[in-house]
Amino acid sequence: MAEYDKDKQAKEYYLDTPINTYGFFLKGAHSLDWGMKNRLSRIFRPDTGKTVMLAIDHGYFQGPTTGLERPDVNIVPLMPYADAIMLTRGILRTTVPPSLTKAVVMRCSGGPSILKELSDEELAVDIEDAIRMNVAAITLQIFIGGEYETRSIHNMTRLVDMGLRYGIPTMAVTAVGKDMVRDAKYFRLACRMAAELGAQIVKTYYVPEDFDTIIASCPVPIVMAGGKKLPEFEALTMSWNAINEGASGVDMGRNIFQSDYPVAMMKAVNKVVHEHLDPQQAFDYFNSIKAEG
Ligand code: 5RP
Repeated sequence: MAEYDKDKQAKEYYLDTPINTYGFFLKGAHSLDWGMKNRLSRIFRPDTGKTVMLAIDHGYFQGPTTGLERPDVNIVPLMPYADAIMLTRGILRTTVPPSLTKAVVMRCSGGPSILKELSDEELAVDIEDAIRMNVAAITLQIFIGGEYETRSIHNMTRLVDMGLRYGIPTMAVTAVGKDMVRDAKYFRLACRMAAELGAQIVKTYYVPEDFDTIIASCPVPIVMAGGKKLPEFEALTMSWNAINEGASGVDMGRNIFQSDYPVAMMKAVNKVVHEHLDPQQAFDYFNSIKAEG
């Protein structure tokens, strides 16, 4: 039988302490539901507000990209150093140990290979399967200015609707076609469209001029895509610039797994993103630990 309280004085109700309303640490996320916020907190570290995401989904249109030929050998050992991993369900189920507790950001679009028109994508994962895999977010490309721009946006709004139904955030990736200009004006358009139409996270490329205006005009967190392999110092500098100008993290692939020292690179990127080491400090740190293998 439940306890019967006769004496209010015997209890402590903290009458002078207002109930905590728990503000949320990520921009644009304060009105989301608990499950969505909890998943976002698995991707973005609540203590720093940032994420280091490892992107290894390239095979879904490129096949076995350099560095991703054997993800079981080369990539699984990097996962402990990431906050989140972005990948396909095929690699998750075949290659990633289910004991890994890192946040999973699931690639949910696909269709064309590098031999065809890349914007010709469809949704490629059911929301039920995403739930089955216990993902923290679902993701796809949008191709602003691309041949199938409208379809890619429609794919995104459908994915956002499915995610909202179950409390799973959607990350929109602002893909650039082969011939498109990558400047702040273009990315302001693409990122803002993604957020306006419901994406809870946007992934976009760094541009040296006015990147901060892309961040300022996008009401949800932006993570920086890595792009093609650069010398490590340049990749660390680009990451630092992006964070310094307001990015909420990085989602890097080739600049990690195509490095000769991928574990050291993962650790150095973490130092930049979460501890704000400047590029030279992070590069010195990288050099000091690369011998560890
Ligand atoms: C583009 C993606 C990839 O996951 C990502 O951008 C590739 O990572 P990187 O450019 O750092 O190698 O979303 O399809």
